[in-house]
Amino acid sequence: MKLVGGLGTSHVPAVGAAIDTGQQADPYWAPYFEKIEPARRWVADADPDVCIVVYNDHASAFSLELVPTFAIGVGSRFGPADEGYGARPVPDVEGHPELAWHLAESLILDEFDMTIVAELEVDHGLTVPLSVMYDQPDRWPCRVIPICVNVVQYPPPTGKRCHELGRAIRRALESYDGEDAATLTVMVVGTGGMSHQLQGERAGLVNPEFDAAFLDQLVAEPEQGRLRPHVEYLREAGSEGIELVMWYVMRGALDDDVREVYRQYHVPTSNTGNGLIVLENAGD
Ligand SMILES: [Fe+2]
Repeated sequence: MKLVGGLGTSHVPAVGAAIDTGQQADPYWAPYFEKIEPARRWVADADPDVCIVVYNDHASAFSLELVPTFAIGVGSRFGPADEGYGARPVPDVEGHPELAWHLAESLILDEFDMTIVAELEVDHGLTVPLSVMYDQPDRWPCRVIPICVNVVQYPPPTGKRCHELGRAIRRALESYDGEDAATLTVMVVGTGGMSHQLQGERAGLVNPEFDAAFLDQLVAEPEQGRLRPHVEYLREAGSEGIELVMWYVMRGALDDDVREVYRQYHVPTSNTGNGLIVLENAGD
């Protein structure tokens, strides 16, 4: 197994809609899609066999009747969810059950109590990052293992817990001895955020200074950054900014020392601070 790197990205639904409806060259969208082009080239070069995509479900597969803090999709196929406007016209996501079951076993024995999900429809939280990375292919070029994190129903897990989950994922990857272990290439993707608030008096809040500082600390000082309390995310990054804790799962899967390969930040894409970062282990 080779870990080719980590990628963090917002999962703004409007970005998916822009791709689905062919608006990428429109004046509103063109600057954003120009900015993500270097990341798309990096992903194409890295060409991972498997992406572990850390995302949150937005009341598509789970509801307030059942809210797992951490869940893992172990199925062989995950269809795109209908989020109210029909399912996105994107391919089904193909899983990697052998590696997913290994991850589930390793993580649970490593004391992360994952909910095991055999059947799962994936919403924009997972499919938009795939579109950010791969545009609109007939078939996704990688297999995907979905890792869901609850950031919808209070209390979500801490940044520290997410960072430690990432480290446990790394340990699990390194102990994988499946048939394809010798040649398998893996990328870990953290999604969500950045600053945004969808309701209340501060609806539309975007805080570029906070988002930049978050990324700086994610790269260089994760031991400090992971301790940021929930209330600080709420105050500085808005009521939906807590999604950023999921980027710490990605960060934890990488070495302590990483190289920042690429970063972009763009406003506006609907009402969100839209960021993306590509990291590689410094020793690679
Ligand atoms: Fe989200």
